[in-house]
Amino acid sequence: MKLIIDHADLNIIKGIYEYFPVSGVTTNPTIITRTGKEPYEVLTSIREFIGPEAQLHAQVISTDAEGMIKEAAVMREKVGGNFFVKIPTTKEGLKAMKNLAKDGFQITATAVYSAIQAYLAAEAGAAYVAPYLNRIENLGYNGVQTICDIQDIFENNKMDTKILAASFKNTQQLLELAKYGIAAATVAPDVIENLIKNDSVDCAVNAFVVDFNRTYGDGKTMM
Ligand code: G3P
Repeated sequence: MKLIIDHADLNIIKGIYEYFPVSGVTTNPTIITRTGKEPYEVLTSIREFIGPEAQLHAQVISTDAEGMIKEAAVMREKVGGNFFVKIPTTKEGLKAMKNLAKDGFQITATAVYSAIQAYLAAEAGAAYVAPYLNRIENLGYNGVQTICDIQDIFENNKMDTKILAASFKNTQQLLELAKYGIAAATVAPDVIENLIKNDSVDCAVNAFVVDFNRTYGDGKTMM
């Protein structure tokens, strides 16, 4: 499962890239507004940092198909590289996806709350569908099961579309999806940091260092 950063602040993205095995960045309109910067300033600086090969996903604002298609063309041109245009999975969004797929756009079908939306988006030509795990669970449904159902639909129908799960609140949600072989997960930096936070691990590592230094001298290492 690819791990992707769901954020737009370049310094925070740099901090996560330094430590974690991540494969790209996703943004949404809300995330971009939180930077306080112009959208293309944000997206081009992320692109410059992650390089042309890494995935960068950004979302259209228009709610009608024609507007989405026009925005997608401008976004792909301005952001460049391995760019995925995020299209909301509405009726208008499906129309936009069908047209954009014909023109060779890489599409991430977003705002997916149900398996049937994912199926339709895949048929319409999306490369990824992005189910919102935690938001689905907040509605009282089983988010993990919904995503596993989507995976089964894709496999059983021999569809090439992959899942980019989004909206995580904890490690357990991520683990469940990794077990099921979900292709990618986009995760906020605070949740990514928590994936490796474990006092027992720190305690075990510190005990090794204390034992070693007690015998061979303070500050001694294997160098
Ligand atoms: O882009 C959609 C995803 O980032 C939503 O995450 O945490 O706002 O539910 P969240």
